[in-house]
Amino acid sequence: MKNVLFIASEAVPFIKTGGLADVVGSLPKYFNKDEYDVRVMIPKYTCIPWEYRQQMVYKTHFYIDLAWRSQYVGVFELEYNGVMFYFIDNEFYFGGPKPYSWIHEDIEKFAFFSKAALSAVPVLGFKPDIIHCHDWQTGLIPVYLKERFSQGDFYQGIKSIMTIHNLKFQGVWDLKKVKDITGLPDYYFTPDKLEAYKDANYLKGGIVYADKITTVSSTYAEEIKTPFYGENLDGLMNARANSLSGIVNGIDYETYNPETDDYITAKYNQITFRKEKWKNKVALQKELGLTEDKGKFMIGIVSRLTDQKGLDLIAYVMDQICTEDVQLVVLGTGEEKYENMFRHYDWKYGDRVSANIFYSEPMSHKIYAGCDAFLMPSLFEPCGLSQLMSLRYGTVPIVRETGGLKDTVQPYNEFEGTGTGFSFANYNAHEMLGIINYAKDVYYNRKREWNKIVDRAMLADFSWDNSARKYEDLYNSMY
Ligand code: ADP
Ligand code: GLC
Repeated sequence: MKNVLFIASEAVPFIKTGGLADVVGSLPKYFNKDEYDVRVMIPKYTCIPWEYRQQMVYKTHFYIDLAWRSQYVGVFELEYNGVMFYFIDNEFYFGGPKPYSWIHEDIEKFAFFSKAALSAVPVLGFKPDIIHCHDWQTGLIPVYLKERFSQGDFYQGIKSIMTIHNLKFQGVWDLKKVKDITGLPDYYFTPDKLEAYKDANYLKGGIVYADKITTVSSTYAEEIKTPFYGENLDGLMNARANSLSGIVNGIDYETYNPETDDYITAKYNQITFRKEKWKNKVALQKELGLTEDKGKFMIGIVSRLTDQKGLDLIAYVMDQICTEDVQLVVLGTGEEKYENMFRHYDWKYGDRVSANIFYSEPMSHKIYAGCDAFLMPSLFEPCGLSQLMSLRYGTVPIVRETGGLKDTVQPYNEFEGTGTGFSFANYNAHEMLGIINYAKDVYYNRKREWNKIVDRAMLADFSWDNSARKYEDLYNSMY
């Protein structure tokens, strides 16, 4: 039996701001339970819904030193869908309405979390062989594990993995302050360790000190070795190339299943979608106040509204996308300029554009089910889960060929009759527009072809099973 502890800053169903939570919360369910005991540790944020908080069971508490102060660490646990979750409690750090705030606060918050998490491991009654860290918030863990914790017998031999879900976010802050907060000696703050461009960099620490590094698609694993995608760490990614691999994400096929999804109006599967799927479109049109027309080509977007997601391309040709024969439904929050851009077009084309500037799990399912196509022209995309959700619901993705989008959406080839979606290569608004218009043409003028694309999309298998086997292989390779 191998014991693995995931440590991360978010996990469904407790707390989610993006795809990281989906991965951390759902992947552990899909390991072979006879051979792998995979558990998860996250902060006990006060913004986790009460229905979960009240079920958490207090285990123990102790104190650690951080930034010259003694800090309380509470440890709670809760088994959810067969997976054991641990929660680190400290209301000073994990209070507030959201998991993240200003970077200077988060820097201290996640130094605390990393140190507290490692300190809590011996009291769990569960000794991990591997600690599997996710993103910059846990970057200090491999560092601490090599430093002070390796001295105690308990930690001897524990290996670590750093999974990069997004290289853009690195946890960068003033070197002297980070020294003070973390209590790590000067030795660690050199350019071959935690220092990057004069600042301290948590993710870099994790990448330098972890035994293995993974990211969430093969293409992204290659891309981050180049200056364009490397976010100033491409040199390091090349240096560690032998320990770096890409394992594509899956999605939870129980949560995202058009056949059983209670959020949607008409349930359907790969056989019945021709008769049923459109009912979800009409229901959505009704709910959002768009013209009710089951034949209208409806494009969906569900996204954090940031430049990563290619929204500059969309803004640039918004008028040309939103022609009379198209409806566009957007669900997302983020940068104000994008929120306002979509609000503007909602006002300008009220009958065919709907901007929903909020976060809503039910609405996201209605969009994945109700739309004909799903637009995701990302500037970069480590994996992307939204396009996998669209495929699952037979909503044809239109994507840019980058990162996980390239690895998961097979472009339609009209000569061979293959493909699960539409894609374009360059970060260019007119190239994107050309592909959207091509998709629209197939939808309106070659309906049988379109339905075959939907067929193939729904058959594509991005459940976690394949990827969980790859993580198992990785764990095995470490011994
Ligand atoms: P990222 O992690 O970069 O945000 P992913 O595609 O990996 O991108 O994951 C995004 C996840 O967040 C998906 O589960 C998507 O459905 C969800 N999501 C994004 N914005 C919203 C929103 N406004 N309401 C509901 N779900 C959202
Ligand atoms: C990040 C990436 C996204 C990926 C997700 C889960 O948020 O932006 O592409 O799917 O992590 O790995």
